[in-house]
Amino acid sequence: MTKPFPNTPAFAGYNGPSRVEADIYDLVVEGELPPGLNGAWYRMTPDPQFPPRLGDDVFISGDGMISMFRFEDGHVDYKSRYVRTERFLAERKARRALFGAYRNRFTDDASVQGLDRTVANTSPIWHAGRLLASKEDSLPYEIDPETLETRGRYDWDGRLKTCTVSAHPKVDPVTGELLFYGYEASGDASRDMSFCVADAQGRLVSEAWFEAPYPGMVHDFAITEDFVVFPIFPTITDLERMKAGGPHWMSDISQDAWIGVIPRKTGVAGLRWFKRPGGQFFHVINAFNEGERITLDLCVSEMNSFPFIPDVSGAPYDPAKASAFPSRWTLDLARNDERIDERLVSRVPGDVPRVDDRRIGRPYRQAWMGMVDPARAMRMSGPVGGGFNLVGRVDMATGEVDAWYGADDDAFQEPQFAPEGPGELDGYVLSVIERHARNLSDVGVFRAGRMADGPIALIQLPLRLRGAVHGCWVPA
Ligand SMILES: [Fe+2]
Repeated sequence: MTKPFPNTPAFAGYNGPSRVEADIYDLVVEGELPPGLNGAWYRMTPDPQFPPRLGDDVFISGDGMISMFRFEDGHVDYKSRYVRTERFLAERKARRALFGAYRNRFTDDASVQGLDRTVANTSPIWHAGRLLASKEDSLPYEIDPETLETRGRYDWDGRLKTCTVSAHPKVDPVTGELLFYGYEASGDASRDMSFCVADAQGRLVSEAWFEAPYPGMVHDFAITEDFVVFPIFPTITDLERMKAGGPHWMSDISQDAWIGVIPRKTGVAGLRWFKRPGGQFFHVINAFNEGERITLDLCVSEMNSFPFIPDVSGAPYDPAKASAFPSRWTLDLARNDERIDERLVSRVPGDVPRVDDRRIGRPYRQAWMGMVDPARAMRMSGPVGGGFNLVGRVDMATGEVDAWYGADDDAFQEPQFAPEGPGELDGYVLSVIERHARNLSDVGVFRAGRMADGPIALIQLPLRLRGAVHGCWVPA
């Protein structure tokens, strides 16, 4: 039998593993769902199948659970399924955890050496009619978009050479291409990075490699009409440390952060680096270029946001320094230097930013994200520890914030923009609202341009939805 999970932050309270694969037909809705809201909202959640092999583990090590809210003519159905990774199947057969510490294969049971150890729990990717479940430490798994059954590991018809594909590829809204990359592309702690392009039909058309300044975590990147941009911050891995059973990542903010820029036309041959002192980032908001001037918007913090990633200096985790702020950086390729011009856009901490997917890589103004009001109640949940107590919109041109607080027992998961009309504010924003007092979840449906008004409809779940990482919207 399965023993109780540990009573630690990654497994207790709202973070308790759910382990439920659900089918719920026609969910209860308070208010009215917009009749034009038709499509599927896919989300990925870490949800451990078994208690950790080493007594404790980090939240983002949990097995990937993919879920779908299917919206149709004012109704919504829910479905969730585990991703049947090699790791999931091996552990299910053994009825216990066989894989050890987060991204450290040297802590695994001997019986699973050589197996794919990804949990595919970070992002659902929709491209060319194909749904993929990805985490950045391996290749993604293909998922049936209707049944959520796992079809198997996906390697672009066996043509992909990189051993990793990040969980933040970007679809160019004009060309329909999928631009993606991998870091630690040739194996653990390597500095190799891959940059790949699949055409609008999903065929791999290019893969080129380059070297990062150090083997850092490159969780997200940016595209513009003419460039791709790789922000590399000093959260760094080390093979000898892993072999000794230590953590995959440690942060060293005394080192510089590097921004690599590659022209889409010439590829990696045109790679240029910009740099600035240390710090940390996880998510790009968006980027665009006007000629040789690149605007890169991202959420930047002073130190790593994850309490489980220690700083090499021994500096204790500081929630204020770990808070990310929406920032606008300018990189000018016409200038012959490495300088980045930086501007803080908003003083309200925020992360998991999303924009209108039709404006990715193009001039835009609006971003939606989870935010924190440090003066108000905060609930412990999700990957970082403290959940978001606001969900809102930032006008990236003015810094104006339009956000909703809810109640003291609420926390919010990553918002999702679903368009209805051509304008940047024409549409709806979906966000899971964690009801901590009731240990249940709702989905709030907001008017995208009027977040502070609160949800116009509440989709009620008879379940607690453990903190998701990312989602995507696929219009009907
Ligand atoms: Fe992410």
